Amino acid sequence: MPATPSAPRGQKMKGETVTTMDEVKKRADVLAEALPYIQKYDDKIVVVKYGGAAMLTEGARDSVMRDIVLLNQIGVRIVLVHGGGPEISDTLKQLGKETRFIDGLRYTDAETAEIACMVLAGKVNKSLVSLIHKAKGRAIGLCGVDDAMLRVKKTDKADLGFVGDIVAVNVNAVRSALDGGLIPVIATVGVDENGQVYNINADTAAAEVAAALGAEALIMMTDVRGLLRDKDDPDSLIPEISADDIPGLVASGVISGGMLPKVDGLRAAIAHGLKEAVVIDGRVPHAILLELLSDSGFGTLIK
Ligand SMILES: Nc1ncnc2c1ncn2[C@@H]1O[C@H](COP(=O)(O)OP(=O)(O)OP(=O)(O)O)[C@@H](O)[C@H]1O
Ligand SMILES: [Mg+2]
Repeated sequence: MPATPSAPRGQKMKGETVTTMDEVKKRADVLAEALPYIQKYDDKIVVVKYGGAAMLTEGARDSVMRDIVLLNQIGVRIVLVHGGGPEISDTLKQLGKETRFIDGLRYTDAETAEIACMVLAGKVNKSLVSLIHKAKGRAIGLCGVDDAMLRVKKTDKADLGFVGDIVAVNVNAVRSALDGGLIPVIATVGVDENGQVYNINADTAAAEVAAALGAEALIMMTDVRGLLRDKDDPDSLIPEISADDIPGLVASGVISGGMLPKVDGLRAAIAHGLKEAVVIDGRVPHAILLELLSDSGFGTLIK
C-alpha cells in the first residue's frame, strides 16, 4: 500500500483484490489485537538482528525497514543490528579476491577485514539507513568502531585472521541515539586496542548489544522458519525451547553452521536477563509486526 492512501474511501487501491466484509473484519481484528502489545513494548528496547538471504533484495529490505519505522513510531525503542555476509562475498569476487574457508568459516586477512568494514559499515549500513529515511523514519548508522562500541580481541577459537571475539561493549552512543528519537542501525565490525578493525559475527554482536542495553526482547530475523529439528525440513520447526535444552541439540548436531552463533547469543542474552528471545523467518512479509504486535507469534521462542 502506498504511504499516502490514494484510493477514494470504499474503493480498491492499486493492486488490491476484492475485499469482502469478512476480510475487512479480519483486518480490523488484527489492528485491535495490537493494543496490549503496543502498550507492552511502549518505551522498551527491542534489538532486531537482520541478516542473510532475508536482506538480499531491495524490496525485502524496504519492507522490513518500513516495519521498523512503524514500531519506532508507536514508541518501541528499536535497535537494528545487521549482517551482510553475501554482500562481502560479492565485493570480494568483484575485486578478484579469493575467499579461503576454514571449517566453513571465512578466513579474514587484513585486506578482507578492510573490505568487510567498507561493505558492512558503508554500503549495507547506509542503504538500510536510507530506506528508513525513505519510510519517513529517523535513523543513524553506527558500527562497532564508533565510540569503540564493540571492543574485540583476535578470536582464539581458530586461526581465522582478523575475526574478533567481543571483550567489551560500550552502548553510550546507542543510548544517545535512542534518547534522541533515532533508530540506531549497527554494522558489526569491531576494533582492538591498536585500532585494527575486525569482522564480528552479527548474531553474537546483537546478543551482546541487547544484554548491555538491558533490552526487553531480541529478535533474530533469518532465512529459515526458525530453529528446525532437521535443517533441511521446514516442517520440523521447534516452536518453543528452553535455553537449557540447547547444548544437547548442539552436541547432537541438530544445530550447526549459522544457527550456532544465534542460539549461543540468545542463550547468553537470556542469562543476562533478556525477557524474550526469538528466531523468526525474515522472508515472511511483516514477520516482525506479526511477532511483536499480534497473537500469532511464530518462529522459535527461546525461554
Ligand atoms: N537446526 C537448524 N535450524 C535452522 N537452521 C539451521 C539449523 N542448523 C543450521 N542452520 C543453518 O543456519 C542458517 C542461518 O544462519 P546464516 O548465518 O546462514 O544466516 P543469517 O545469520 O540470518 O545471516 P548473516 O550471517 O548474513 O547475518 C540457515 O540457513 C541454516 O542453513
Ligand atoms: Mg549468520
